Amino acid sequence: MQINIAILPGDYIGPEVMAVALPVLETVLRRGGHSLKYSTHAVGGAGIDAAGKALPDATLEACQQADAILFGSVGGPKWEKLPPHEQPERAALLPLRKHFRLFANIRPGFLPKALLDASPIRSERIPEGIDMVCIRELTGGLYFGQPKRTTVLPDGDSEAVDTMIYRKSEIERITDVAIATARARRRRLLSVDKANVLETSVLWRKTVTERVAATAPDITLAHMYVDNAAMQLVRAPASVDVLLTENMFGDILSDEMAVICGSLGMLSSASLGDVKNSHGLPFGLYEPAGGTAPDIAGKNLANPCAQILSAALMLRHSFGLHAEADAIDVAVKKTIADGIRTADIAFGAIAVSSSEMGAAVLARL
Ligand code: IPM
Ligand code: MG
Repeated sequence: MQINIAILPGDYIGPEVMAVALPVLETVLRRGGHSLKYSTHAVGGAGIDAAGKALPDATLEACQQADAILFGSVGGPKWEKLPPHEQPERAALLPLRKHFRLFANIRPGFLPKALLDASPIRSERIPEGIDMVCIRELTGGLYFGQPKRTTVLPDGDSEAVDTMIYRKSEIERITDVAIATARARRRRLLSVDKANVLETSVLWRKTVTERVAATAPDITLAHMYVDNAAMQLVRAPASVDVLLTENMFGDILSDEMAVICGSLGMLSSASLGDVKNSHGLPFGLYEPAGGTAPDIAGKNLANPCAQILSAALMLRHSFGLHAEADAIDVAVKKTIADGIRTADIAFGAIAVSSSEMGAAVLARL
């Protein structure tokens, strides 16, 4: 199989962890007899520096030609003084998600037993570790709703507005993704909203309930308000199987999920939509969800696992290469089980560098 991808490393630790993940991807593909064809393009702050905008035309063009995007991370202090809508996150990542209609964000939260000590949750509360998935709606809600602006009022005061808006059809299609995900797992779906306050959440809860009743009687559905869900995630994380929620709540809860699973440096993600690639599989954007970590950039310290695991998600969803994706997942788990840890998950043990972590994963692969 020809694996044709656009690589967008981005800023700060983005290029560092990408450089560690790439040999892992190349190795697993070569071994499977597949050929990797990729081109690398500037995005985010790097795009601003190279071409004057966060999502240069040439970068978008390259993504359009590819079957998937392997993304690093964007943003950081260097570009923080730009007007908000020109900053790397808002001007690169969000337009990419919108352009390719990547409405489904899949974030696996996995804490293996070997990493129990890296979780801020006491080990006796999660003796078997944590294994959940967050399904986050990614192209609607507060992030994209219009109007979205800041105005100076006649009396001199300033006013800002974001709009939270959802259509029933948007809720139905993300519910379908959550149902499919739950079917491949423990068949339990937890839908999170704020239906005691928000209109969009009332529609969310009604739509999810009806969709599951009509199409997925085999799935056990529960609903929870987002404040309660934030609490239950730390109180009883092992009880969660598939968590389904809207854009903003998913942004917040997935960071919480990541840290109870050890570290943001372990959180991979897949963003998928209804666009198919040349293999007839979902076109997707695959990215670690932990950000650019400017404080440790350039020091070869960042945990490359989220980037490596994002590459595995890409092989699975956009290329159907499940054996190759499994091999990467297993190699990462073995590395961690062998006690090889970057600083974010070392907790007192001797930490290895980013490139040493990558070499250890490669060796186990
Ligand atoms: C994430 C990130 C982004 C988001 C930022 C960088 C715009 O936090 O992917 O979770 O809020 O979606
Ligand atoms: Mg986030």
